Amino acid sequence: MSNSPSEETAPYGSGAARESTTPVAPVKRIRTQHLREMKGRGERFAMLTAYDMYTAQIFDEAGIEVLLVGDSASNNVYGNETSLPVTVDELIPLTRAVSRSVTRSLVVGDLPFGSYQRSPEQAYDTAVRFMKEGGAHAVKLEGGREMAPQIELLSRGGVPVMAHIGFTPQSEHALGGYRVQGRGETAERILADAKAVEAAGAFAVVMEMVPGDVAGQVTRELAIPTIGIGAGVDCDGQVLVWQDAFGMRSGKMARFVKQYAHLRGVLLEGARSYADEVRSGAFPGAEHTF
Ligand code: KIV
Repeated sequence: MSNSPSEETAPYGSGAARESTTPVAPVKRIRTQHLREMKGRGERFAMLTAYDMYTAQIFDEAGIEVLLVGDSASNNVYGNETSLPVTVDELIPLTRAVSRSVTRSLVVGDLPFGSYQRSPEQAYDTAVRFMKEGGAHAVKLEGGREMAPQIELLSRGGVPVMAHIGFTPQSEHALGGYRVQGRGETAERILADAKAVEAAGAFAVVMEMVPGDVAGQVTRELAIPTIGIGAGVDCDGQVLVWQDAFGMRSGKMARFVKQYAHLRGVLLEGARSYADEVRSGAFPGAEHTF
């Protein structure tokens, strides 16, 4: 076998070196209307965050219908304490990496704090950047009734909008911290927000930290799909931040998080073994040496 450089495996990650372990039939791209059709058939769908090529490829291959390049990249990629500091210029390259890496999933870019609240025009300009420069198929923004003018302009201008109501992390200081929204009398407000974003043209709405019965009522009363995070099982879809769902992050998790893997432990173990072998001289072996 020749060892010419052109026949060797790419020495480090390469977008072209994608291997599929799951035999998947050619699948059509998930579009906003497919989510609505799934709701109509009573089929639930899954959404995860993704911020890079490998997770996007893996989640796409796993059949996750929607990938959100969340402003949660602020705390899960950029090391900030909250989602507030992340900027449009920081999120767009992550969005581009994700949109380039999927064949089927719908990619939603999350508009960060301060990039859309000022006016519908500001929202439109930001959303266009996410679509042109980031390759996003849709955008998400936080807010209910007060965001109706933004959602209307974006929808009219060809930008599919996913709304986000209930607990909205960008307003954590205004909301007085991480709190369930819509308990008791305020349930009516959640319903009014949901109806307002639907009427304005949103194709779906995320509900975060909303009591399960309220989220269930909203889901029944809307024609567009609802996506829950801490909003119970009656939503049409569910979303989790991948570092929470697969145990990349340590520390206390929110009640609504379920962990499906413990990647932090796997990586820690691997990194420790590597360091031990480097120190002892066990790596690299003859088989790794030219
Ligand atoms: O940014 C994000 O990850 C989100 C989800 C939690 C819905 O907005």
